[in-house]
Amino acid sequence: MLYGVSQFAYLVASACFIFALHWMNTPATARKGVYAGVAGTAIAIGATWAAPTVIHHLWIILAIAAGFVVGVPLSRVPLTAVPQRTALSHAFGGLAAGLVGTAEYYLQLSEGGETLTAFRMVALIAEVLLGYLTFTGSLMAAGKLQEVKWVPQRPVTYPLQNVINLVLFGITVALAAALAVHPASSWGTVIFPVIILLSLLFGVLLIIPIGGADMPTVIAILNSYAGLSAVAMGFVLDNKLLITAGALDGSSGLILAIIMCKAMNRSFTNVLFGAFGQVTQAKATGEQKVYKSETAEGAAQVLEQSSLVVIIPGYGMAVAQAQHKVRELYDQLKKRGITVKFAIHPVAGRMPGHMNVLLAEADIPYTDLVEMDDINHDMPQCDVALVVGANDVVNPAARTEKASPIYGMPIIDADKARTCFAIKRSKNPGFAGIDNELYFADRTWMLFGDAKAVIGDLVKELAAGSGRH
Ligand code: TAP
Repeated sequence: MLYGVSQFAYLVASACFIFALHWMNTPATARKGVYAGVAGTAIAIGATWAAPTVIHHLWIILAIAAGFVVGVPLSRVPLTAVPQRTALSHAFGGLAAGLVGTAEYYLQLSEGGETLTAFRMVALIAEVLLGYLTFTGSLMAAGKLQEVKWVPQRPVTYPLQNVINLVLFGITVALAAALAVHPASSWGTVIFPVIILLSLLFGVLLIIPIGGADMPTVIAILNSYAGLSAVAMGFVLDNKLLITAGALDGSSGLILAIIMCKAMNRSFTNVLFGAFGQVTQAKATGEQKVYKSETAEGAAQVLEQSSLVVIIPGYGMAVAQAQHKVRELYDQLKKRGITVKFAIHPVAGRMPGHMNVLLAEADIPYTDLVEMDDINHDMPQCDVALVVGANDVVNPAARTEKASPIYGMPIIDADKARTCFAIKRSKNPGFAGIDNELYFADRTWMLFGDAKAVIGDLVKELAAGSGRH
């Protein structure tokens, strides 16, 4: 009876996870999606806890308390730090899978190893390999994104790097195969820790040749490894919910990584084996070019005369937390009957949907957010393209310069607008570390300063202007 109830609870939890992902598809239902995910997790924990095999309840209480101690501060990080926060979550997930696999192996071995079939052993090794690899890989990724001192930011390369990785992988597979053939043998107690060490090492070796710019994509790939490790854990523990939840996690991570690669015109293998950051370093030290600056007053006058204004937000808007001021600017322009659209690049900022979340936070109507491919048709008719802390995603070098690290990445055509105002604090390059021709173009004027302050000044000018009329 209890078994039936727990299986039903697992089914409900699985349905919650599927609905959670489905509702995340649109901002209108995203909040519902979060609640469904939380409900699914709570049901899964409750059903597992109620199983008669669980006798040491104190351990469960301690684990839940530990989850709160780590989870609550993690939920308070600023939006700009969400990629590294996500990497840390994957690291914990990977570590949990690795530890469960390790405990299960030694437990079954201590009971004579009869239950350790070849299939179970393969699943166990997959769980341990992917779990520990995800743990160190995600820690390295989080360290790179957080710019932790002892983690090299730029790609670290050395001769025969891929060959060494492949040889190590080959050794791991050979050890795993030996263990799968003789799962209960006594030398397994020596081989198993070697597999663990190699997996931990793999995580580090996989991440060090990858540059910071590719890190968010790599995090999505690590997400999918963590999911696959949970699937393997589900087979080891004979738990269907783990298999379903892991498969959802694994496939959504993979789909996300593919979407991100496509939006940056990067191939998967290029992300995993290419040294993106190295090229960008060399390009950053280019010749000095001349910028034209504009004042808030001058820019406000041009904005007032416009029919169509396209605001292009980027990472700088997130840093400045300028979304609420952007909303005020939007209101000022709308009041004058001006059409205002927001051009959303799929990889603007540092995580998928970064700009959508910020603009939704400022209650900007979702109908005024336009995807890159759709807004680009309108750019030649646009009177003002207002670039708010975006750089790489409006860099025309992506269209023309074959040697550029962002060559081939689709961009928002800010340079095709009649006038372009670009807000940023300095002459520093963007994430890819390269100069941006848009800033030197004939029709571009720079509004140097923090995005929140500059937009605030524009709003003041427009508000004063309406008072004068
Ligand atoms: P970036 O190219 O990173 O440029 C951001 C610009 O914002 C910088 O030029 C910076 O210039 C400016 N800025 C920073 N703080 C500011 C502030 N307080 N006020 C005003 N300006 C500020 O941003 P992007 O155009 O959004 O491009 C995103 C980059 O991240 C792309 O290269 C993309 O491939 C990469 N990436 C994104 C993702 C996802 S999923 N979003 C995933 C992987 C990689 P100053 O320092 O001069 O102010």
